[in-house]
Parts: sequence; structure tokens; C-alpha cells
Amino acid sequence: MVFKQAKEKKRWRLGYHIMAPSGWINDPNGLVQYQGMYHVFFQHYPNGVEWGPMHWGHVASRDLVHWKHYPIALTPGDSFDRDGCFSGSAIEKDGKLCLIYTGHRNADDAKKSSDQVQCLAVSKDGINFEKSPENPIIATHPKEGSGDFRDPKVWRRGDHFYLIAGTCKDRVGKVVLYRSSDLKNWTYLGVLAQSGKNLGYMWECPDFFELDGKHILMISPQGIESENDLYQNLYQTGYFVGNFDYEHLQFNYGHFKELDNGHDFYAAQSFQDHSGRRIVIGWMDMWESPMPEQAEGWAGALTLPRELRLGADGNIRMTPVAELLHLRKNERMNAENLQVSGSHTLNQLDDDLLELELLVDLHESDADCFGIKLRCGKTEETVLEYDAANCVLTLDRSKSGTGSGGTRRTKLPKRDSLKLRIYLDRSSVEVFVNDGEKVMTSRIYPTEQNQGVQLFASGGRLTVQNMHSWSLKDIWNEE
Ligand code: FRU
Repeated sequence: MVFKQAKEKKRWRLGYHIMAPSGWINDPNGLVQYQGMYHVFFQHYPNGVEWGPMHWGHVASRDLVHWKHYPIALTPGDSFDRDGCFSGSAIEKDGKLCLIYTGHRNADDAKKSSDQVQCLAVSKDGINFEKSPENPIIATHPKEGSGDFRDPKVWRRGDHFYLIAGTCKDRVGKVVLYRSSDLKNWTYLGVLAQSGKNLGYMWECPDFFELDGKHILMISPQGIESENDLYQNLYQTGYFVGNFDYEHLQFNYGHFKELDNGHDFYAAQSFQDHSGRRIVIGWMDMWESPMPEQAEGWAGALTLPRELRLGADGNIRMTPVAELLHLRKNERMNAENLQVSGSHTLNQLDDDLLELELLVDLHESDADCFGIKLRCGKTEETVLEYDAANCVLTLDRSKSGTGSGGTRRTKLPKRDSLKLRIYLDRSSVEVFVNDGEKVMTSRIYPTEQNQGVQLFASGGRLTVQNMHSWSLKDIWNEE
């Protein structure tokens, strides 16, 4: 059975992002391509707009663009997942789709501490799942960890499966490693990586994969202190680039780097699809932030699927998957050589769902500061501003409408041009800079009267070599 979205008009309901039919969602879970279909599960509380006993919601797609809702895949309530089916991953084994997830149990009545175990559920059709009679498959945390022991990510290498999970001990965040040949009996291999100074008291949602010849450990740490423009969100997702020696189980890695520099990106997970691409999806919100959409009976969404590559500079590049070109509906603008000093309003760009692409010629621009105002009007604006002297890009949502404000800043390498690809949905913005060199993802809640786009430049001239824009499809309400 496939559920249709409710059709009544809701201002903040997104047009081309993954959401639940109603209720709360957080982390993406169990990303996988199985029997040709892309499956995305997510942390879900169907009975309210706040976090509650976690279920696994489910959407699937043939093309990473058009998603459909499927029945809830996992419901908590068994002895091993009494208080929630927490985050985890998916893997195919013997033609079946296996979900490996955390069984969450409160360890005390005040729900202050947890007793978390790892569990397995199996499906023959990718839709209906049965929890394994052998649950829990990892019944207790290792001695280097604690009852905060969650978010298993499983992958296959040769005849073995490997699993990592996030944990902590004495306020040190860690990732621990296991191996199995059947997904049910797991051998503990030790700590893969752990927090040094200032890298957090708990590491959530780990992921480990090869990318362009290197090994990447992606984590979502809690408790990193902010440092100038870095780590401005309550929690953040980031990665280490390194080399893993499977024989000696040794992971040598560099320093921690944030994956996205916007306000709302967390608990990201990746998977490799049948074409070999590494694709990542994050939760497009942040813990403890206001969520104006709760008034509409829903809360939370996932980011667009993004392809990962490793750049020659050792940093990850994150770009929208190529299939997202199919979202384009009508061309709204195609202009070359725009010269701006002061401000220049682009009248025709007032679609709810809009993609913008612009290439700024930095040689031919002598403005101190320039940028683009999105969702702007008499009372609101979301500003993307580039400070040319310092090569700093700022996303400012302090006048974006309802919801939290605040700015996020990111430094770019010095270049001859600045390329921005921007996805606007009814309550989100995703900015891909210089083909994924930096990405900024934020929720914004503008009113319908503030839907304009404006270019601006101060202290000189801005030269936009070309600018292109398209209205985008509403995949949930297609005609
Ligand atoms: C991350 C997280 C995970 C946990 C899940 C619970 O956002 O805290 O560690 O499994 O959310 O919903």
C-alpha cells in the first residue's frame, strides 16, 4: 500500500524533499538500493510533532527524485527495543533486505540513561520487515563504551560484514568496530577512533566508507565547542579522511572537518548505489531548534541526495545527484553578463520551488561585498553575501521570517570565479558552492509576500558571467 500526502495547503510543506506524511522525523536511516529501488528510512514518531518513541518511517524511489511513502517499517515495543527503534543502516544479504538498528531502552524512570543494544530485522520485499528472533544481536556494549551505544552502520568486505556504532565513556565520544560472517554473531574488534581534545562527549551516527582511494569516517559528534566560524550549530556532522588497514585494524586519519556549513544539517548517512556512486542524505534540521511547521502537523525533513567525491585538496565535494536535473520544470531566467552595482531585482523569480545557478566573474568584479537576496520583499530576506577581501561567504537568515535567525560563515579558497547553485523549497535553502567545495543547508520560513530574488553589490561592481533559473516540480503533488 502506498500512502498519498494530505492535499490541503500547508505553507511550509516542502515540494521535493523527503518528509513523513505527518508527525515527527529526524535522522535518515537504512539508505540502500535494493532490487533497483532506492530506499530511505528515517527516525519517525507518527503520533505527534515532537520526538517520541522512535519508529522507522519509509520512502522509496526509482530515480532519487520522485519519492513515495510506504508503511512504517519498524515499530518499537519488543523487549529489546521497548522504548524506540533508533538509527541504523541497511544491507542486502541472500537477496533479503536487512535492517540493523539500535534497540533503545531507558535505563531509569527519569529517562536519563540508556541501555542500548543492536538489533536485526529482515524483509523479502523491501516493504514488510520481521524482527529477528535472535534479537538483540549485540546484547551489550563493549567495556570501552557505555549504555549510549547506538546507530550501527554495516558494510560488507569479502566474506565478512563489519559494523561500527557510536558510543562514549567518561565523556569521550567513540566509534567501536565489530565483524561478523552472518549478521547475527558479532566479534568485537576494538575502538576505531575516539574524541581527543574538544571533539565531543558522544559520537552519534558513524559511517565508514571508501571514497576515491581513501577511507572516510563520518560522525555526528555532540559537545564540540564552537571555534570562530566553526561548529556553530548545537551539533554537527563531519568527517575524517584516512587510511584503514583491515589486517591490523588500524585507522590513521587527519583532522575533523564539517561536512556542511549551514544551520540545519545533522546525522548524515551515506550508501553506495548500483552505479558505484557514494550518496549522502542528512537530516535538514537541528536538535532543540524551533520548527514552525509543527503548527501544520509535521516536523522535520531530509536534505536532497548528494553525491560525494574526494577533491585533490583532501576535502569532500558534495553535489546534488545528477537525477535532480529532472526536477526542473520551466526555465525562468537565462542571462549572461549581468553588471550590478547597488541592487538589481529579478522580478520573474518568485516560484515557491526554484533552482538558481550563477557564475560570478571575480576578476571582473571589484565590489567589496556582493551577493544574492533570496525570498526577499518589504519585510524579509535571506542573504547570501560574499566578502571579496576575505573570501568569506555568509548565509544570513536573521530576517528570513519565522523561526530561528543567525548567520553562518564559511571561508573559500581564493579563485577567479564563484559558482553558486541554490535550491529553494518552501521552507529550506541548500547552497552548493563551487561544485560542492562548500555546502550550506538551512531551514527558512518566509511569508508568501516575500518571494523575490535580488542581486546586490556594494563598494564596486559585480559581474555575473551567467545566471540561470528554473521552477521545480512538486513531487508530492504532481499534476
Ligand atoms: C541522532 C540521534 C541518534 C539516535 C536517534 C534517536 O540525531 O540522537 O543517535 O539513534 O537520533 O532518534
